[in-house]
Amino acid sequence: MPSRVLVVDDERLIRWSLEQTLVKSGCEVETAENGEAALAAVRREVPDVVLLDLRLPDLDGIQILRQIKDMQPNVQVIIMTAYADINTAVEAMRLGAYDYLSKPIDFENLEVTLRNALETRQLREKVEYLRETHSYPFHFDRIIGMSRPIRDVIALARKVSASGATTVLIQGESGTGKDLLAKALHYESERADEPFMEIACTAIPEALLESELFGHERGAFTDAKAQKKGLLELAHRGTIFLDEIGDMTPGLQAKLLHVLEEHRFRRLGGTKDIAVDMRVVAATNKELRSAVDEGTFRKDLYYRLQVVTITIPPLRERREDIPLLARHFLAHFSREFKKPPPRLSPEAERLLTAYDWPGNVRELRNVIERAMILEETGELLPVHLPSEITRLGGVAPAPVFMLPRTGIVLEEVERDFVRQALEQTRGNQTHAARLLHLTRDELRYRVKKFGLGRSNGDDELVN
Ligand SMILES: Nc1ncnc2c1ncn2[C@@H]1O[C@H](COP(=O)(O)OP(=O)(O)OP(=O)(O)O)[C@@H](O)[C@H]1O
Ligand SMILES: [Mg+2]
Repeated sequence: MPSRVLVVDDERLIRWSLEQTLVKSGCEVETAENGEAALAAVRREVPDVVLLDLRLPDLDGIQILRQIKDMQPNVQVIIMTAYADINTAVEAMRLGAYDYLSKPIDFENLEVTLRNALETRQLREKVEYLRETHSYPFHFDRIIGMSRPIRDVIALARKVSASGATTVLIQGESGTGKDLLAKALHYESERADEPFMEIACTAIPEALLESELFGHERGAFTDAKAQKKGLLELAHRGTIFLDEIGDMTPGLQAKLLHVLEEHRFRRLGGTKDIAVDMRVVAATNKELRSAVDEGTFRKDLYYRLQVVTITIPPLRERREDIPLLARHFLAHFSREFKKPPPRLSPEAERLLTAYDWPGNVRELRNVIERAMILEETGELLPVHLPSEITRLGGVAPAPVFMLPRTGIVLEEVERDFVRQALEQTRGNQTHAARLLHLTRDELRYRVKKFGLGRSNGDDELVN
């Protein structure tokens, strides 16, 4: 698509010559001879770049610049100024003009400036697009659930997010959505446009984690060939997410506590304090309280962190959310796999709801993904679920025999099973009763009721 350029100048000759040049280099050009016409043109169709003469008959060029920027902040305005009025040009730059060219216009100069301005505009649009599409998945409404417990969690998180709280602790079993919540806390807060930095405190050696967090000066240790900023510094004005905080070593815990209290720190090997303004969101799937009792987690840091605690309950304590989440993931994977979302059969729904989900939402998501790969008939059935879910006893057992749609006569089925049991045990009532989990008396009663005694021979039936 050609770039759109609006040329604003009151001198016809200048408009004409600029138009010629720009059209030749592939631009789509519109011209305006005064301020009003320029603003009308921007309103009609947004240009990519405006070449704006500062001296116009009706409106002050600075005024026009201001109005264009208000309407369309991404439009790049290049100022043209006839007299070397550096002060006005500086003022224009301060108000967001991209650059200025002095008249008479040097066309080579114009081309370079124009190309750069267009590139800047494209980058800005790309950044804006990325910001919109990337932060969108992390809003609170992306946290699916209608149960009381999850609604309480979201309500509390909203309050915390909008508050000035600088430390937040998220507790919850693995897979309950701590990451999701930490991101929502950031992307729905005033800090949303600032960085969100995250690091897992697990599985990184202490020294490495420390330099990741605090950064280092050149020569702070053997490998420190250059100065490096740490995450604490990079998260300035934003949020730092410390995942699995329970795994942080006691030495680092002490240093972190210091940062939380003083809002300042030093790079490794550094001598000057660096002030930071950030929110620290820490997450753990362990009971930090017991870690404190066991002496692996510092009590003072624990008290500091737990002031604002959000606890996400495990999925088994909010079973109403299971069907909702299941359908959410069905829709998600149907988009991903490009196939229509299957219906969730009542039987599968019942099994999913009854299961205890030790891996919580993550496990449910994986189960649905797998089921979507297996199913081919447009309906998600128990056969598509892993055995640990279908072999559930207790709460809601999987069906032993499928009930035909036409229905059955229960007594006939019972009679048939009693007959089979007697056949298999050659009429031995003790053994047959055991097969059916009945007492001998209960069996005897049925044998009589169904008239099954005779065919098996009376002798054996008595024993
Ligand atoms: N309420 C929810 N709604 C939608 N998706 C969810 C919800 N809770 C969790 N998820 C999804 O489940 C998966 C696991 O969530 P997440 O990574 O946030 O869990 P976690 O608590 O950080 O787990 P871990 O302790 O293992 O790090 C992710 O794909 C996440 O998007
Ligand atoms: Mg996590």
